[in-house]
Amino acid sequence: MADFEAAFHSAPAESAEAPGRVNLLGEHTDYSCGFVLPAAIAQTTRVSLALSPDNDFHIHSAELGMAQSIVAGAADAAPGFSRYVYGCVQVLRARGHVVPPVLMDIESTVPIGIGLSSSAALEVAVLRAFRKLLALNLDDVELALLAQKAEVEYVGVRCGIMDQMASSLCTPDRMLFLDTRSLDFRLLPLPAGASVAVFDSGTSRSLTQSAYNERRAEVERAAQLLGVQSLRDVDDLDTVDALPPPLNRRARHVITENRRVIEGVGASASRFGELMTGSHLSLKNDYEVSTPALDSLVASLELQPGVYGARLTGAGFGGACVALVERGSAEDVKAGALAAYAKAGFTGRALV
Ligand code: GLA
Repeated sequence: MADFEAAFHSAPAESAEAPGRVNLLGEHTDYSCGFVLPAAIAQTTRVSLALSPDNDFHIHSAELGMAQSIVAGAADAAPGFSRYVYGCVQVLRARGHVVPPVLMDIESTVPIGIGLSSSAALEVAVLRAFRKLLALNLDDVELALLAQKAEVEYVGVRCGIMDQMASSLCTPDRMLFLDTRSLDFRLLPLPAGASVAVFDSGTSRSLTQSAYNERRAEVERAAQLLGVQSLRDVDDLDTVDALPPPLNRRARHVITENRRVIEGVGASASRFGELMTGSHLSLKNDYEVSTPALDSLVASLELQPGVYGARLTGAGFGGACVALVERGSAEDVKAGALAAYAKAGFTGRALV
């Protein structure tokens, strides 16, 4: 909010925030209508706004290093990160809401581009700020759906619903069990005696968007060949094995990953950790979205006493890893794992 005052020399009328997320189990299942188990991270994005004195939207963000204006009438050309804001405005307008031009400041501690949903946090925070400013009648699930629509239609990423639902619904120290088909959800405690630790592998995710869309096309093709609407409807691994490669491996990941999520609900910390490790192997061998750096970080984590399990988190191809650790052991795990990772030639960091 201090940034808003510095940028616009006035006080904001409203502000709202939303967290990034870390996915514990259920990776690359949401666009096959499957199950996911994400949790909020402590890092958040805060959006402060007030009515604009002119006809334009003026957007400022110190973290993103930018001040941008979306000029009335030329908004289609919204550059960079303001496309997310523009997308949110447009989906609200398409729903029949009158959205006036605003001054907006965005402050964020969510790391960008490492698989912790900085974009969902931004979309959800923007929509929450508008919900407050305009007293919109919009519940948290509707808000998440609008955020996803903004990203798909205005940013051009064919993402599933997990990230926006997590940012909109997660509360601290809970994990969100979500059925991405029905959108039924439950907030559950973490496995008893365990806490979550998140690490940046220090490697960028340059391939993510094209490879993500490619994986999505592959599972859609697999579902088509199996004569089902989505892989959520398949449970028989023998049927899947008969598909041509790599569709057989892609489908096997989705089916086994859905099983891991279901089993993870209510599992002990040690079983949950095994499921996470199984998830990583499946993402590596069957879904092929891991990298040598992510494999090395997971291996470094699993060497540490107090680690129940670890895996890459988010879309993959670089970015973050998550570990389930014995409560109270996080600091030792961080130091030990980062030292082992450094020995393997990589530089990572732990997120607090
Ligand atoms: C990205 C997408 C999500 C989900 C994950 C992979 O974060 O935005 O919808 O598909 O990748 O699980």
